[in-house]
Amino acid sequence: MARHALSKAEASFITKLIRVDQAGELGADLIYRGQYMVLSRTKPEIEPLIKHMWEQEQHHRRTFNELQQKYRVRPSLLTPIWKVAATGLGCATALLGQEGAMACTEAVETVIGGHYNTQLRWLHENFPPKEERSKDEEITSLKSIVKQFRDEELEHLEIAVENDSHEARPYWLLTETIKAGCRGAIWVAERV
Ligand SMILES: [Fe+2]
Ligand SMILES: [Fe+2]
Repeated sequence: MARHALSKAEASFITKLIRVDQAGELGADLIYRGQYMVLSRTKPEIEPLIKHMWEQEQHHRRTFNELQQKYRVRPSLLTPIWKVAATGLGCATALLGQEGAMACTEAVETVIGGHYNTQLRWLHENFPPKEERSKDEEITSLKSIVKQFRDEELEHLEIAVENDSHEARPYWLLTETIKAGCRGAIWVAERV
């Protein structure tokens, strides 16, 4: 299928989308990795659950790494900071126990699910299914990637709630702090 030229604004949105999502999925991979390292020892019965979510995050990260190369998008300049922060967040919340780890997952996936929804809405508004150029293979593939990942993040959110995220203490402070941190990181990673 012929490639349809993107406007400057569209190209800039897609660049930002790839940069921030790659940084986010790298963060997610490391959060779950940190949780896995702690909980596989302290709480072996939930090891398969954490592993399931972690593997999905590894797939998300690989996919955005590939998109980053394909579209020649430079990674977020703060990547080293995202790595340290994500690993620290994963380990620290898992040290609070299963409930702390799940509260972290609930907070992160609430923000990321909403973030993917915003991007999906933009893609649908700017590339409505009826338009010829919306059938461009690359746009179609980007839409389905974002949609699939959004669904998986929301599945993680459900798993977290089903596994006692609300039992974490202090629940409100913990989840609201993590949500604010995620929103801040998204804002920064879209720009730097
Ligand atoms: Fe993810
Ligand atoms: Fe996730």
